[in-house]
Amino acid sequence: MAAPIYSPGLEGVIAGETAISTVEGGLVYRGYSIEDLAEHATFEEVAHLLLHGELPSERELAAFRGRLNESADTPQALVELLAKIPAGVPMMDVMRTAASALAHWDPDAADNSHAANLRKSEHLLAQLPIVMAARYRLAHGKRPVAYDSKLSLAGNILWMLFEKAPSARLAKAMDVSLILYAEHEFNASTFAARVVCSTLSDVHSSITAAIGALKGPLHGGANEAVMGVLMEVGTAQKAEAWIRNALSQKRRIMGFGHRVYKTGDPRAAYLRTLCRELAAETGHEDMEAMADTIETIVQSEKGLPPNLDWPSARLYYYMGLEVDLYTPLFVLSRVVGWSAHVIEQLDNNRLIRPRARYTGPAPRKWLHIKNR
Ligand code: CMC
Repeated sequence: MAAPIYSPGLEGVIAGETAISTVEGGLVYRGYSIEDLAEHATFEEVAHLLLHGELPSERELAAFRGRLNESADTPQALVELLAKIPAGVPMMDVMRTAASALAHWDPDAADNSHAANLRKSEHLLAQLPIVMAARYRLAHGKRPVAYDSKLSLAGNILWMLFEKAPSARLAKAMDVSLILYAEHEFNASTFAARVVCSTLSDVHSSITAAIGALKGPLHGGANEAVMGVLMEVGTAQKAEAWIRNALSQKRRIMGFGHRVYKTGDPRAAYLRTLCRELAAETGHEDMEAMADTIETIVQSEKGLPPNLDWPSARLYYYMGLEVDLYTPLFVLSRVVGWSAHVIEQLDNNRLIRPRARYTGPAPRKWLHIKNR
């Protein structure tokens, strides 16, 4: 048998097969480039593509939206639980709790058939935005707002947060960010979801684990950390001195670098234009100039391009969203990719159980407790 390969962080390791997406030659969801999807599709169409394998026909899309509308409900007991979670608990922690709790009211929770897994995935896709918006409003002393079946998922997120019909511009910006965040091959949270379900565990357990993995600042938590950087810098005028000093202190600049994309993240390139347009409309040109300076210097000094979290943090900021919502918004989108991977894993399962290289002590003689 060949010597086992060891690659720290599993860098470069092919850990499984997938038909859902690839990062080879740009990011592609089931054969469609993310640029085409962001330009022409809605998030619902992309969710259908990822979960069901194909872009929907008009009839299929109407049926899919109908199922999401029917799923767009959360039990009153869960809303009461959301209200009881202590004030100040980060929204990502609330999302993790809610994804787990939602299983208790899902009649298919323990059914691991392909059809039940699809149903549960669609339920979570419709329910998680309601949970996030309800907790947000309760934390602000406001009553939750009901899901509006006439609006898109993106429009509903904004409607349920602010009880105000979103402009077409804001709904589109939210839709595009959801499309870009929806799926990304074997990233850490997706891999976590696949590891969990490979034990023949269930959809809700896998999604709960994925949310825990996404929260870290090296992964999804980076979009909130990016805003921390921009707030710390303050103004475009201070950007050059700040970034040069940060790099000289070997600080890790959130929103830059990527394990796979070494020459650029296509999602960041796409979102940049939208970000600029929204900044101009909302009077945030100074923040764009600040981001430009940081980007130019990180690129020239470290050769690191920005990743998706760099522009998306600013996009959400220009949309008037609180920073605590940024990574949870990533959840509302990536739940589609996670679910597609859980379904794919369970449809052709093999337990994920790698080996470790042992670095501990050589075999030792047993010592009685009195002799230690
Ligand atoms: N700022 C400063 N230096 C960096 C950064 C950064 N953001 N990213 C990598 N480096 C340096 C790192 O210090 C190392 O330098 P040296 O060789 O001198 O020690 C070199 O680049 C290689 O870094 P690495 O950590 O071995 O590379 P990796 O493939 O493990 O890192 C990463 C990938 C995403 C963890 C890393 O780039 C990072 O920490 N970025 C900041 C966090 C972030 O933006 N995460 C979002 C990732 S993409 C979307 C998502 O998942 O949400």
